[in-house]
Amino acid sequence: MKMIDIIYKKRNGEILTKEEINYFIHGYNEERVPDYQMSALLMAIYYKGMNKTETVNLTNAIIDSGDIIDLSLINGLKVDKHSTGGVGDKTTIALGALVAANNVPVAKLSGRGLGHTGGTIDKLEAIPGFSADLSIEKFADQVNKINISLGGQTKDLAPADKKLYALRDVTATIDNISLIASSVMSKKLASGADRIVLDVKTGSGAFMKDIDEAFALGKAMVDIGNGVGKDTVAIITDMEQPLGNTIGNGIEVWEAIQLLKGKAPEDLLELCRYLGSYMLLLAEKVSTLEEGMKEIQEVIDNGKALEVFKTFIKCQGGEIHYIDKPELLYKTKYVYEYTAIKDGYIHQLDAELIGKCALTLGAGRLEKSTEIDHKVGLELQKKIGNYVKKGDIIVKIYYNEKRKLDEALKLFEKSLVLSDEFKAARKIIHGVVTKEGEKRLS
Ligand code: URA
Repeated sequence: MKMIDIIYKKRNGEILTKEEINYFIHGYNEERVPDYQMSALLMAIYYKGMNKTETVNLTNAIIDSGDIIDLSLINGLKVDKHSTGGVGDKTTIALGALVAANNVPVAKLSGRGLGHTGGTIDKLEAIPGFSADLSIEKFADQVNKINISLGGQTKDLAPADKKLYALRDVTATIDNISLIASSVMSKKLASGADRIVLDVKTGSGAFMKDIDEAFALGKAMVDIGNGVGKDTVAIITDMEQPLGNTIGNGIEVWEAIQLLKGKAPEDLLELCRYLGSYMLLLAEKVSTLEEGMKEIQEVIDNGKALEVFKTFIKCQGGEIHYIDKPELLYKTKYVYEYTAIKDGYIHQLDAELIGKCALTLGAGRLEKSTEIDHKVGLELQKKIGNYVKKGDIIVKIYYNEKRKLDEALKLFEKSLVLSDEFKAARKIIHGVVTKEGEKRLS
């Protein structure tokens, strides 16, 4: 087999066989296929697409490039939740406790953030002492004892995806449905979950800017999961503006804790209830979505989820007095209050630009080696649809280095549109894709 023949074939819009897909994935992973040929093939895939069988074969080839984690040491049905990446998305932090408090095992392997979207591990590391560096035995043992554990993805999990993702990132080939679906699902399937809930984001802060494209991505991933016998659902959710009111690391943990205390913004609470309820449904804890939402609300109201969260943080080395005083997690040297320059309705708060604003302050990393500042971030005082009067505070910016503020302010100003006309925020849940088909809700 020759790489050039595979490139020709895809360039001409033909369907690749399983053997050809295995050839280029293993060849690239083992450094027999050079970057220039893989780049050409990725661009051909980007333009000509892949059908369902090719996408499944691509996913399996990526899984086969590394280890498959065996979670059989953990009792019960393990349901994993994965988000395709958003700004202000702290749902994993709150959901873990909400679902574990319902006696469903949460065995979560998470990643770190790169670019304008943050990673769950970076956020939780804002709590001094917290570590996601656990052996598989300790990881499993903790889930069996307290229902929840959070580990880092090892380098041996789907290693071909890491290499491919890095190449896609610099060859403008990220936003292709087959490539995203196989990248996400290879990691989920190699992580050993029994059932999978996917949160597919759509809007300015997401890879899938367009709602129809997000449904198509959801369907591709649901087909892959169900195709290998793992019950998978995709919830299509909004990322036109940041989720909740905070963007950063410590400040997002603070907001997740507020949620567990029953003090969350409505969009974040609705999303957590919805995703959590699907996790309970797939784990066979409840039999309807309504029942699931009631159970999720119940563990907030009776304080059980907050207790579970404290135990989880303590077991992973975190100093728990930060949970009692979570405002310490975003205590910076300076706070800037950005105010409205005129009266009007908030029309736009572009999620991607706000993510970049937090990145500029030091909350994220553009390169893997960058140290992040866990305390900096933003706290929105207003969201799309709110009315402001000249001088009202729109956002509080928490920062530690004066030189970074100007650039951050420029990005925030660019993200914001004020108008005389009212515009309602989009609904947070756009719909659901299951093996039975799709249901649109917006
Ligand atoms: N997240 C992933 O893990 N892979 C992609 O390709 C896009 C988002």
